[in-house]
This record gives sequence, C-alpha cells and structure tokens, in this order.
Amino acid sequence: MRAVDIIIKKREKHELTGEEIKFFVDGFTRGEIPDYQVSAWAMAVLLNGMTPRETTDLTLAMAHSGEILDLSGVVKIVMDKHSSGGVGDKTTLVVLPIVVACGVPVGKMSGRGLGFSGGTLDKMESIPGYRVNLTTDEFKKQLRNDGIVLTGQSLDLAPADGKLYALRDVTGTVQSIPLIASSIMSKKIAAGAQAIVLDVKVGLGAFMETLDEARTLANLMTDIGRLVGCEVVTLLSDMNQPLGDAVGNSLEVIEAINTLHSRGPADFHEHCLHVSAHMLVLGQRAPDLESGRRLAEAAIASGAAFEKFRVLVRAQGGDVSFVDDPGKFPKAKLVEVVKADRSGTLSRVHARMIGEAAAALGAGRARKGDPVDHAVGVIIHRKVGERVEKGEPLFTIYANDATKQAQVREGLREAFGWSDTPVASLPLFYE
Ligand code: URA
Repeated sequence: MRAVDIIIKKREKHELTGEEIKFFVDGFTRGEIPDYQVSAWAMAVLLNGMTPRETTDLTLAMAHSGEILDLSGVVKIVMDKHSSGGVGDKTTLVVLPIVVACGVPVGKMSGRGLGFSGGTLDKMESIPGYRVNLTTDEFKKQLRNDGIVLTGQSLDLAPADGKLYALRDVTGTVQSIPLIASSIMSKKIAAGAQAIVLDVKVGLGAFMETLDEARTLANLMTDIGRLVGCEVVTLLSDMNQPLGDAVGNSLEVIEAINTLHSRGPADFHEHCLHVSAHMLVLGQRAPDLESGRRLAEAAIASGAAFEKFRVLVRAQGGDVSFVDDPGKFPKAKLVEVVKADRSGTLSRVHARMIGEAAAALGAGRARKGDPVDHAVGVIIHRKVGERVEKGEPLFTIYANDATKQAQVREGLREAFGWSDTPVASLPLFYE
C-alpha cells in the first residue's frame, strides 16, 4: 500500500477500506508518512467527507495508535466531557472541579487551540509551572489520589490524534465532521471513558454552523460511543456569540476562577451548571438534572469546587498563588477599551470574528508548534439582545503589539451587528 494512492482514492471521492485507514493512521503515527501527505489527505477528507463506517474505522485506528488506558481499578465510572470547540469556551476549567467536588472523579485529556477556537491546554499553561504532559502512571496516580486530572495527549494515548490535530490547526482542515468526530472519540476511547457528556457547539464561532450539521456530528459520536459500550449524552449549545466575556488564555482562566467564586458572567455560570448537572446524573451522583444542578450550585457556594481547582493546579505543578490571586497573571502591555460608536440593540456578536481577532493578537497559532501569548485577548462587554448607548464600553483589547492591536480593532467593531428594534437574546442550549 502507498500513502499517495490512499490520498488519491479519497480525492476521487471513493470509500476507503478499514485496512487502508489503519495503514495510513499507523504510518503517520510512526512518522513514516510525512506531514505533507497527511495534510493532503486531511484536505481530501474535509472536501469529500467519509461514510459513518470510514469515520468509525478512523476513530478506532486513532484510538489504537497508542495505549488504551484501563482505569477500572482506579475509579468506579470513568467519566469524561468534551466540547467540539468554540470561542471563550473555558467550561472544563469550571465543570471539572464542580463535578469532582460532588464526588465524581474525572481524568480528562484536552487539546490545544484549534483554528479560531481556544484550547484548554493553552489556557491552563497560563498558570506558571502547570504541566500538561503527564505520563500514564502520573495520570492514574493523580486520579486515584486527587480525583482530578486535566492533561494533554503526550501520554501514549491516541498519539495519531495528537499529530493530526496539530496539523489540522494550521492546514485549514479543522471543519470536517469525520475529522472532529474521530478526533474527539479516539481520545475518549483511548482514555477508557465509560460515560461522556459531549458539548457540541453550534453557530458562527463553532465548527458546526447549523443545527443540522451539529446533529449529524452528535449522532455520529453517539453511535461510535455506543459501539464501544460508552454511554454518551450530547448537548447542542450556542456558539454564535462567545461563551462568557473573556476570549484569550489567561483572561479565560481568570474568568473561570471568578465563576468558581460565583462572580462569573451569567451565561457562562448557567452553562457550567447545566453541563455539570448532566455529568452528575451520568456519573450516578444525582437522580435527575434538577438534583445535579443543586449539587453543582452547592459545590460553588461552599468553595469546594474552587478548592478542587487548587488541588488540580497544585498536583500538576502549577503555582497556586496565581489561582488565589489572579492579579498575579502577567498583563498585556496595551489595554484599550473600545466604546460603542452608536446606540442600538446588539443583533450579533460574531464569535468567530472575535476568536480570529484573539488568535491574531497571539492567543492562537499560525503555524504548528508556535508559542502562544497567554496575556492577550479580548473581553466582550455586551451580549446579543442588549441595548447599548453610544459611548458605552463594547469590548476591551489586550495586546502586546501595537500593530496587531490596530489590525484587529476594526474587525472587532465589525463583529457587532446593530438593530434599532428589540432583538431576542440567544439561547444557551438548543437541544
Ligand atoms: N476537539 C477535538 O478534540 N478535536 C476536534 O477536532 C475538535 C474539537
């Protein structure tokens, strides 16, 4: 078999066999198939799609490209959550500590920023010292001792996804249902998940822009989960406007910490309670969503969830003093509050344009392996449906480079749409 023939077959819109997919995945995992061929293949998949059978084969091949974690002796139910990617989505930073504080241990593998969407690992690395490259043994030990782990894929788990993910980020091949489904589910299978809450984002700042696409992705991941005996709950949540106010790594960590102190933005707080409630039901800690939500609220109110976040940061080598005093996070040199140049009701706060602006400021990557600037980003002050008067703060830019700051300013203004008549606020969840 030759990699080039597999690329051509996909380019010509033919269905790949399980053997071809496995050959390709194993080849690039071992470094025998170079990045340029993997990129060409990913583009062919993005353009021509895959059947559910091909996507399942791809998922299983990527899951088995490394070790499969067996956590049966470590926790009662191996719980997980994953988001399909969005702008301002720092949900994991809040939901994990909540759920763990309520008695459901969670060891989670997250990813880096992808295209215009932020990545949990990049966010956590804003905390000096925080390690995202735990070994399998460290993962298990921490899960056993502390009940909470949030790390990357440098464990020997789904290494094929780790490689492909980094390439997709910089080759315009993120927005593909089979590639997203296999990326997410391969990690979950490799981590031995038995129950997962999948948060599929829909809208302008998500990889799925329509509810139909999001449903297709959700159903595909649910089917793959079932095939391997994993219970999956899928939520379809709004990503037309950023979740919460902060977009950018340390800005989002600070917002997550504020939320753990009940001082976060209302939409983000509510989103986290809902996701937590689902995890608590799935993790058999709550009989129904209402009780799960009450448990989650109590974990925030008592400080137990915040304490679990401290435990996590300390366990992974992070400097907890930053969590205790978020004023310690390095500040961007240039902070500019941009005010509304008209009055009206906001009809649009375009999440992708805002995510792209944050990435252009340095919060995301242009090339594989680029460093990110943890301090830069954007804070959005107003949401869709709100009335804004001329001269009121609309957004704040946090930049370390005056040229980039000037470049993103107009694009950010254009992210806001206006109406002279009332506009309904956006729902948090669709289904
Ligand atoms: N999250 C992932 O882990 N992979 C994707 O492709 C998109 C979101």
